[in-house]
Amino acid sequence: MIFRNTFDRNRVTSWNESLMEYVAKNDYFEKQKSKDGMDRYFASLESSRPQILGLYWSPPQMEARTSSELAVARRWLNSLWTFSSENGVEFDPDRECLYADRLRQREPGDDTLGLSAHVDGGSVERWLDEGFRGVYRHLLSGDVESYDPFDAAFRTVTMEIPSPAVCSMFRTYQGWTALSRQGPGDGTLNLVPIANALAWVILRALQDDVPDDELCGAAPSRALTISEAWHAKILRAYVPIPMVEPGDTVWWHPDVIHGVESQHTGAGYSNVMYIGAAPACAKNERFLAEQRRAFEAGESSPDFAAENYEVDFEGRFTADMLSPLGRVQMGYEA
Ligand SMILES: [Fe+2]
Repeated sequence: MIFRNTFDRNRVTSWNESLMEYVAKNDYFEKQKSKDGMDRYFASLESSRPQILGLYWSPPQMEARTSSELAVARRWLNSLWTFSSENGVEFDPDRECLYADRLRQREPGDDTLGLSAHVDGGSVERWLDEGFRGVYRHLLSGDVESYDPFDAAFRTVTMEIPSPAVCSMFRTYQGWTALSRQGPGDGTLNLVPIANALAWVILRALQDDVPDDELCGAAPSRALTISEAWHAKILRAYVPIPMVEPGDTVWWHPDVIHGVESQHTGAGYSNVMYIGAAPACAKNERFLAEQRRAFEAGESSPDFAAENYEVDFEGRFTADMLSPLGRVQMGYEA
């Protein structure tokens, strides 16, 4: 789903410039070289070195996350879900928890860095964990027609295998804010724009041609890979997003198969800030407590590799800069 003009274009263009400056003046790339290889989350994907920066606490990221524009967008997105269900009330669609994610700054001409098709937020646990078995209960009991990917029942009680980079929060949507103009060929997002395509993936692993000790390439603590070898039929629907402009936002259901083009053949940087929707629920509020500690120390989000680049970064966003809405989203206030 694409929201056009979520943010004023001039504001976003100045965010983009200030982020490039934040990276340059704090010597991010030199510091990254010395920590290379810490984040192995995508190591099983074909192209495993995305231009994703382990930065969480820049002023533009925090301003966007705590903005009234995204509060309105996320409230509407959350409301697309059935949040009260047979397992009780899963989340409050009107209240957002801040989830500190990273940045993508991708140079034109880059042809080595991309992300093969995958699904975030759990791999083998989708078949093994009791919570996920609740989420997919209709599929696993043979009642495929009753499966609804927007039914939140059991979604906030899933237990992911701990890993430096598997999302520990429940998100109704993954998403990003475009910092630069980008579209097909610009090294940006591709996806299978079908929320219940994962129903096919779940059942695919249980077919007769798949060995009993195999889940079509799923491996613990990794993104769930979607491959030509096992999933060719569903990958026929894998398409690039249309052109987006600075200030547009892009959103996809957490079960949606997605990736980043391996080649950037366009002319300008394709830059984004990853900002999804994570409504208030017990799972997300537990995570906020850990995240606040990291924020105050300027450390990496506790959900990602502990690279901690920003501890001594000049110009980092600090707690005294939070707006009243930001304080609530960070869990400083109820
Ligand atoms: Fe992803």
